Amino acid sequence: MPSGRYDFVVVANRLPVDVSVDDDGKVSWTRSPGGLVTALAPVMASTSGAWVGWGGSPDVELEPFEVDGTELVPVLLTADDVERYYEGFSNDTLWPLYHDVIAPPTFHRQWWDAYRRVNERFAEAVAEQAADGATVWVHDYQLQLVPRLLRERRPDLRIGYFHHIPFPPLEIFAQLPWRRQVVEGLLGADLVGFQRQGDAANFVRVTRRFTDLATRGQSVLQPDGRVVRAAAFPISIDSHAFDELARTPAVQERARQIRAELGDPSVVLLGVDRLDYTKGIRHRIKAYGELLEDGRLSAESTTLVQVASPSRENVGAYAQLRDEVELLVGRINGDYGQVGHAPVQYLHQSFPMEEMAALYLAADVMLVTALRDGMNLVAKEYVAARSDDRGALVLSEFTGAADELSGAVLVNPHDIDGMKDAIAYAAQLDPRESRKRMRRLRRRVLGHDVTAWSREFLDALAHPERQQADPEAARA
Ligand code: G6P
Repeated sequence: MPSGRYDFVVVANRLPVDVSVDDDGKVSWTRSPGGLVTALAPVMASTSGAWVGWGGSPDVELEPFEVDGTELVPVLLTADDVERYYEGFSNDTLWPLYHDVIAPPTFHRQWWDAYRRVNERFAEAVAEQAADGATVWVHDYQLQLVPRLLRERRPDLRIGYFHHIPFPPLEIFAQLPWRRQVVEGLLGADLVGFQRQGDAANFVRVTRRFTDLATRGQSVLQPDGRVVRAAAFPISIDSHAFDELARTPAVQERARQIRAELGDPSVVLLGVDRLDYTKGIRHRIKAYGELLEDGRLSAESTTLVQVASPSRENVGAYAQLRDEVELLVGRINGDYGQVGHAPVQYLHQSFPMEEMAALYLAADVMLVTALRDGMNLVAKEYVAARSDDRGALVLSEFTGAADELSGAVLVNPHDIDGMKDAIAYAAQLDPRESRKRMRRLRRRVLGHDVTAWSREFLDALAHPERQQADPEAARA
């Protein structure tokens, strides 16, 4: 197969922008949702390469185009692909399976066929773009077959894969009817990266169980002598850029304005999530409602701002979650609100970075109560925004971030009483204690940013002889 132009190619289900074409054929775009794009956008801005991915709308065929020095190479998804590969296999089979089966995964053979077909299309597109001996970085659960499909087409490439979401324990992964094919797909990579050490260990265990390959520590030995390594590389954000953004007078002023618009409550709590059942939004709102009911938080002078950005709205479990959350919010506001004051401000919308930074600054307590989350970058954004060393972070034990962010108030979101205690504690935290915690959090978040993350991964990919590139990963 002839090689292409790019020495560095990123491939992810989504491009970093959502592309739309109006009736006159005019192309416009907005930033795509989710943690993957948040993390990778600054990495790409600092290199010149290509990004292969889907533009976010079905049946839109587009030529490659450039944004901020990165060549974006759109892959076509038909309406049928969107339904079976994206909404179906990726988000109604793999997503719930990999997140502790919080929602029941659905297994459909036609969805698997579509997943295979679309993974082949992505592998083809990458094979066309990558120069001889190029480095290709494959991202996330939607594309687990790409490493192997790509190696079959282009054995000259150096292939890394990073898994942004949890990798489940063997006992759960074993449910997947196509478990062996998925493992073999991933083993096409030279390096398979995970958020946590536990995820990497799960993957190696699954490999031992469902293939005949020998493993040594976290390495898997292929019959042709190739060695595939699994390791943890906890992802981060562009912390310094976020810190700077939050220091700008416009953002600081907007933060003051937000508090004023909320009626200057004495305590502002904040939740920021894609509207996803893994995020523990219901658990958090339930705990908050009970704190109001018990009078441990005053309904007159407390506000919970819940930003829930729309996500995967055609998948049944998401539509159901939206109904449940909105019912709960309506009940609490009905029971404890007054004319001119709603104890929950619920925003089913997405906001630009500047507004997010202002919300973080306006919040006394950030609530990250996911039932399972690969990392959770919202927790890191909150910390990066708090150059005033104020605010408190309530953080679920079941996030990747909990491994790193000592200084947070850790919670088990299933334990509503425990969560109530943690929220009440964080809301009334002594300023000295809060400063001490925030400084510790900031040292970690500013000291290990997304550039360090990508450097560690790409160094480990380029230098297989160096065993564990990330001391933090070794510790985690
Ligand atoms: C998570 C996943 C990403 C995904 C994002 C948004 O962060 O790890 O792969 O892109 O959610 O979800 P969506 O389905 O809208 O792409």
